[in-house]
Amino acid sequence: MADRVLITMEDLEAAVRANAAFEGAGFRTTMVSALDDLRSAIKRTDPDLVLLSGGLREQSLARAIEQAAGTHSAILGLAESTDAAPDEIAALLGLSKVLVKPVTPDEVVATGRRLIERKKLQGRTGILGEDAGVHEVLLKIEQMAPVSSTVLIQGESGTGKELVAKAIHDLSPRRGKPFIAVNCAAITETLLESELFGHEKGSFTGAAERRLGMFELADAGTIFLDEVGEMPPATQVKLLRVLEEREFFRVGGTAAIKVDVRVVAATNRPLRELMEAGAVRSDLYYRLNVLSVYLPPLRERRGDIPILVRLFSREFAKLHDRPFKGVSPDAMRILMESSWPGNVRQLRNLIESMVVLSPSGEVRAEDIPPEIREAGRRYLPVPTAHPAREFAGQELQYIINSLLDLRLQVEDLRRRIDERHHRVEYIDVPGQETEDGENRVLVGRVSGLSHPVPGSRSPVTVQRSAEHAEGTGDVVYAEGMKMADVERAAIASALRATRGNRRKAAEMLGIGERTLYRKLKEYHLEGEVSS
Ligand SMILES: Nc1ncnc2c1ncn2[C@@H]1O[C@H](COP(=O)(O)OP(=O)(O)OP(=O)(O)O)[C@@H](O)[C@H]1O
Ligand SMILES: [Mg+2]
Repeated sequence: MADRVLITMEDLEAAVRANAAFEGAGFRTTMVSALDDLRSAIKRTDPDLVLLSGGLREQSLARAIEQAAGTHSAILGLAESTDAAPDEIAALLGLSKVLVKPVTPDEVVATGRRLIERKKLQGRTGILGEDAGVHEVLLKIEQMAPVSSTVLIQGESGTGKELVAKAIHDLSPRRGKPFIAVNCAAITETLLESELFGHEKGSFTGAAERRLGMFELADAGTIFLDEVGEMPPATQVKLLRVLEEREFFRVGGTAAIKVDVRVVAATNRPLRELMEAGAVRSDLYYRLNVLSVYLPPLRERRGDIPILVRLFSREFAKLHDRPFKGVSPDAMRILMESSWPGNVRQLRNLIESMVVLSPSGEVRAEDIPPEIREAGRRYLPVPTAHPAREFAGQELQYIINSLLDLRLQVEDLRRRIDERHHRVEYIDVPGQETEDGENRVLVGRVSGLSHPVPGSRSPVTVQRSAEHAEGTGDVVYAEGMKMADVERAAIASALRATRGNRRKAAEMLGIGERTLYRKLKEYHLEGEVSS
């Protein structure tokens, strides 16, 4: 079945071009208005890829993505060339990738296709992350899975070594056969040998019956030797024999037993160091180190933290049946700055406790235990820059929020008007005016602004539909108007609200300055710009 792509229309032109290119390449596409409920659109269409054509800085978008159910959708964002730190925006939104405009539709399709493939692999393995190190791990898993060669997985505690071992097994022809994990550090030498190779009845005190070892039980499947560097020297010799001959003896046994088992080994400490220190035999080291995978610690891939936080929050909210609204931006920043010595496992455990304990259903900065924050401060003395901090003060934020509201209301009205005829009275669209004053009109008063929009005709009178919530602003739309008219008027209104300041107007509208510039030309609005 064709892969599904959901395209948002923040940047109508980019969206339309991408839509045509994806359709041409055989994808099934759905376009969703920039002002539609993205979350419900994702639920409804269950896309393999979500393409955000613009507006990456909008907080409403962050909220929608935070709450969107499907982690199996790859998300590709198109940033404006004027957006500062697009990678940082991508990390905070948990995007799979961000491309900076201008991009060709072909480039968008090629990237989208790659992201979908990778997302599917992540769905099958449960290994999430957009860091280059994690992508390399995924690539290696794909390459290593089909063969039977020994694999060595190295990485600090909690980085996902067992997850990778299981993924290699699950993607291999051995899936459906046993996957058996043995921790070589957890038990004494005698017990470990008996555990791995089994024993004959009476071979040692307490061996009352013959017992099959893990190598026999894992026949045709995979054995995962965790903390292999902790294996006692005598057991190392026996393991070497299994790796070379594919056979072994049970403890106290005399008959060689042949098995077909793939060995995947893991270690928290670099195996080479253990070999150089004399703890691991060099011949075993070379036998184990045929194919190797390295898992980077979480502090070296902080950009993956929001993705993991969202995954774990959703997982535990569901498991413990807790209302969970998300993680506040401040809290997310603290989590991104912490040092995470226990890596993904530590993060996962913390999220579980916070989901259960956070009183408001939202994880806020104050819900994060002090030791996690301290770890961050010690680790990163210089706070990282964040786009939200660039907004100049509360007033501007207020105006931005008002404009976002306005956009939502315009769309809401458009939908309502589709259903029933509306009479409107305030006209502000050049080239749209008719004799009787109907069917042409636009934006009136911006919700939440304490003063009327300068330059708007007054009095502004608008028919409200009965369902329209008390206190919302006035937005007018006339039947027959095009999206371009709505856009033109929204831009004109933003320019009036900022007294012609192009940068502020672009910020309010959630588009890049260059896009705004282009649109000003397109709609012949240049005269309204102050600087
Ligand atoms: N990239 C990832 N995406 C999603 N979950 C992950 C990822 N990496 C690790 N986890 C989760 O983190 C937890 C720890 O992973 P795992 O047990 O595989 O780590 P480990 O390296 O074997 O740790 P240890 O060395 O302590 O045995 C698991 O719950 C695992 O599912
Ligand atoms: Mg482990």
